[in-house]
Amino acid sequence: MKNHLIDLNDFSKSQWDEIINLGEKIMDNPHIYEASCRGKIMGTLFYEPSTRTQMSFQSAMLRLGGGIIGFDNPTASSVMKGESLKDTTKTVSGYSDIMVMRHPVAGSVKAAALTADCPIINAGDGGHLHPTQTLTDMLTLQKEKGRLTTLKIGICGDLKYGRTVHSLVKALSCYEGNSFVFISTEELQMPSYITESLEKWHKADSLDEIIGELDVLYMTRIQKERFTSVDEYEKQASRYILDMEKLSKGKRDLIVLHPLPRLNEIAIEVDDDPRSLYFKQANYGMYVRMALILIILNYDIKPPVLLRGGVRAGIRCENPKCILQTETHLEHSFIECDGVLTCEYCETRKMYPI
Ligand code: NCD
Repeated sequence: MKNHLIDLNDFSKSQWDEIINLGEKIMDNPHIYEASCRGKIMGTLFYEPSTRTQMSFQSAMLRLGGGIIGFDNPTASSVMKGESLKDTTKTVSGYSDIMVMRHPVAGSVKAAALTADCPIINAGDGGHLHPTQTLTDMLTLQKEKGRLTTLKIGICGDLKYGRTVHSLVKALSCYEGNSFVFISTEELQMPSYITESLEKWHKADSLDEIIGELDVLYMTRIQKERFTSVDEYEKQASRYILDMEKLSKGKRDLIVLHPLPRLNEIAIEVDDDPRSLYFKQANYGMYVRMALILIILNYDIKPPVLLRGGVRAGIRCENPKCILQTETHLEHSFIECDGVLTCEYCETRKMYPI
């Protein structure tokens, strides 16, 4: 079995926590992990536009010491010649140790996983799911709210086609005490396959009526590319806009998130409010993706190189309290500077014998 991540449910809840905790650790000490994926290659196949997801994955792999191949413009690949999804993904999976794929059709990444020769990560399949955005959101909540439980989360905008919120609600409903308020038009409501397994949720028509009760406000873009006609889209566009007037009714410890890109659903003036965390959220995404790559590849963290000196024939550390006297398998190693030798372990010095 390969460790594919198509839906967050492919992993256990304790594995989600493991990824988030590792993301935090990486953020605190990124240099420890900088060679963890040396020699590994990540293939990124983006059949749909992307800035954050694609670049944060690429940056994550480069920061782990690995390499990247792939395309973000399928028309410059054999897709343009009519190659099937199966053939392209099968081929690239043979060149890669791990693959990340975004595609406009729901279920496409799962389909690719059936024949892929390496683990594959869903970076968004149509209007369906986007599990790594959810890991990003969870790391953001952990860092900024200190918890993933007992949160009242308002989700506003395109709940029908917005894949990020489908994955988000599925995941956060597994943590104790969370409740959801879905703020959307009738046409863009949360699909029933998400709501039917939820316990604590209700709908709201306007941001004004509910913003004061929320711990988290998650804004989303109306997904123009998923509408069947421009007319239909235009009826929905600009219905919910978070501006300073509305935000002023929010709690002092409310946080405002958005997977980005934003159009006009968050007024620019809101960016300067300390509760607006969407750019920070995008940054957290890189660390959580580093953690995910490591966990999927069953990483072998190469510790930072501690020893910088060298072994000198016949020269030994004589400090009786040095670990070298008891751990006899260790080699006596010294750093040399201006004719002075310093033991790597206890820092006892001796003159370089002439
Ligand atoms: C989202 C997506 O692609 O689903 N963006 C992202 O990955 N950060 C949201 C969107 O496009 O509106």
